[in-house]
Amino acid sequence: MRILYITPEVWPYARVGGLAEVSHDLPLALGSRGHTVDVITPRCRLEPELEERLERLPLDLEVPVSWRRHRAEVFRLALGPGVTLYLICHDHLFDREGLYGNAYGDYEDNAERFIFFSRAAVELGLALEQKIDVVHVHDWTTGLVPLYLKSIYADQRLYAEAGTLMTVHNLGAQGIFWHYDMPLTGLGWEYFTPESIEFYGKINFLKAGLVFADMVSTVSPNYLKEILTQEMGCGLEGVLLSRRDRLGAVINGLDYQSWNPLADPHLPANFSAADLAPKALCKAKLREEFGLPEANDRPLAAFVGRLVDRRGMDILLQALEPMLEKGLDLIVMGYGEDHYHNSLQELRRRHPDGLGVAVGYEMDMAHRVMAGADMLLMPSRYEPCGLHQLQAMRYGTVPVARSTGGLVDTVSDHTPERPGVGFRFDLYEAPAFLEAIDRALTVYRRPPEWRGLILRGMAQNFSWDQAAPQYEELYQRARALRVKP
Ligand code: GLC
Repeated sequence: MRILYITPEVWPYARVGGLAEVSHDLPLALGSRGHTVDVITPRCRLEPELEERLERLPLDLEVPVSWRRHRAEVFRLALGPGVTLYLICHDHLFDREGLYGNAYGDYEDNAERFIFFSRAAVELGLALEQKIDVVHVHDWTTGLVPLYLKSIYADQRLYAEAGTLMTVHNLGAQGIFWHYDMPLTGLGWEYFTPESIEFYGKINFLKAGLVFADMVSTVSPNYLKEILTQEMGCGLEGVLLSRRDRLGAVINGLDYQSWNPLADPHLPANFSAADLAPKALCKAKLREEFGLPEANDRPLAAFVGRLVDRRGMDILLQALEPMLEKGLDLIVMGYGEDHYHNSLQELRRRHPDGLGVAVGYEMDMAHRVMAGADMLLMPSRYEPCGLHQLQAMRYGTVPVARSTGGLVDTVSDHTPERPGVGFRFDLYEAPAFLEAIDRALTVYRRPPEWRGLILRGMAQNFSWDQAAPQYEELYQRARALRVKP
């Protein structure tokens, strides 16, 4: 199949969350299975060494946005067998400090930016002059693409048999804009209806994707169940239910080559399930890297990810000092809301021996954290899939996670009667979280049982070899539905 994979983030060219890794690894997995995948993404501000690799195509796009035409350059790079990355360049809209916003919030022209990007991606599909079998889009920023293909571009020969799949990585971000932005879309007002993209008097880009894609998927079966309820459907549960026969769910994979503790070049020592001993050296070095005193006998937990409410930062902060009092040390690596940076720095000053903090997200460091920690904390308020728990288990680090979304599908709760791979808690509150931490600490003090947890986690298989064939099925269904709706 020839697949256009349209996404706002591709690691390492732009990363805000796990979507970036998925948008790098899934196309490569599909490419290695014989498909041709053209990944299309905006060109954001890049480090010079990334910029050097890009080749400028002798092709400029003319992208209509309202009455104007934006000119865009296109850059290209081969990602792997069958997989090409295309970066659409429009500096005025995308050469910025952040992808969706900066420290003060979302950019005020996001409607225009992602209308431009969605339309430019469709235009690029035409400019490449080859028949397209599947168009795969991701989250609200690309939500208009399925609608464009069924309206303005409905007669385009190259798209005539293209099935569309919209994958939701986060239903909480929908791209909601006031109706004055409607003319920017180039769509007529006949689409501003509840059956289409109108949402409580505003425009909703994600809804456009949910309504007009041939198939809709999300990143874990449990999250799919959750978002069909009023409690977690973010106002879109009715729309999702109306498309019930076109919904699917595929758990994300992990790139098992780059996440391989036996061959990982970022680690101070390599290890495997057969030889876990070097993990202790990873832990000692990690403590050192985060400025914690030498004390390898103390259990060490880690939190990695965006420092925002939905990742559970509020209950993590409430639980932090009680956790340290229990003798569990903690390192936090991530970037997010300013007040969380400040609170963490303040707590670090108060507990220099128990808490280590790194503000930012560095892939190399993420590898070292996963290898060196004993536990990974994921107290998420909601979690469509989650990648960090998969990385942790691969590196013999035991997840302590809230029972939500993909964490339920991937982290089985451990009890003495029913051996699992981690510890889970239900209620979104600090005492429940601390209770799960207590259970984890109890088992940590029983080395043979703890080792069992580690080994069961390491034996899980969440490689893309599992996920890619499931996407192929979704693509086939989307194509079949495109021809015979
Ligand atoms: C988003 C979700 C996360 C998921 C990732 C990739 O970041 O919050 O749960 O793993 O997308 O699908």
